[in-house]
Amino acid sequence: MNVRPIRVDDLPGMQACNLQNLPENYTMRYYLYHAMTWPSLSYVAEDHKGRIVGYILAKMCVDISEGEEPHGHVTSISVLRSYRRLGLAKKLMIQSQQAMCAIYNASYVSLHVRKSNRAALGLYRDTLGFTVKDIEKKYYADGEDAYAMHLSLK
Ligand code: ACO
Repeated sequence: MNVRPIRVDDLPGMQACNLQNLPENYTMRYYLYHAMTWPSLSYVAEDHKGRIVGYILAKMCVDISEGEEPHGHVTSISVLRSYRRLGLAKKLMIQSQQAMCAIYNASYVSLHVRKSNRAALGLYRDTLGFTVKDIEKKYYADGEDAYAMHLSLK
């Protein structure tokens, strides 16, 4: 399995992977916005035939008006079911976090996750060391709450 930065021709494969794995889906325009603006923050995992089996879609948040420190944000990550528990998501997260830090001097990385998402919480909290900063009530379209999680990159 190969993990590498995204190319624009990966976007349909990433979107297909997202549609299979998550109810939070995005327009092709939104994928393109990430790829064009922060090309070094998003990665794909591909199999030996070059098929996309996982991805991370990430961006920077720089809201100077609110005096916030520049930080990275994981918009979405997923791995196809038959490729899970192989360490791919961990690898995708770490690659993106390293680029956030090295290229954009991000002080931390943030993300939202469903309170019921046991696998993702295992990855973020137990494996990578994220902590819960806040609970955002009814964050998701179906009314489920989200944990807003952070990891310091300092
Ligand atoms: N249960 C408990 N802990 C888990 C699980 C699980 N099912 N899956 C992963 N973990 C934890 C473990 O600590 C694991 O380490 P270990 O295998 O040594 O025990 C660690 O995470 C790393 O696991 P990876 O193999 O790197 O994770 P994987 O490649 O399987 O992908 C993911 C994890 C992305 C959560 C996958 O299950 C998935 O695609 N789920 C559906 C989509 C999803 O929920 N995405 C996250 C939404 S939130 C967001 O996008 C910001």
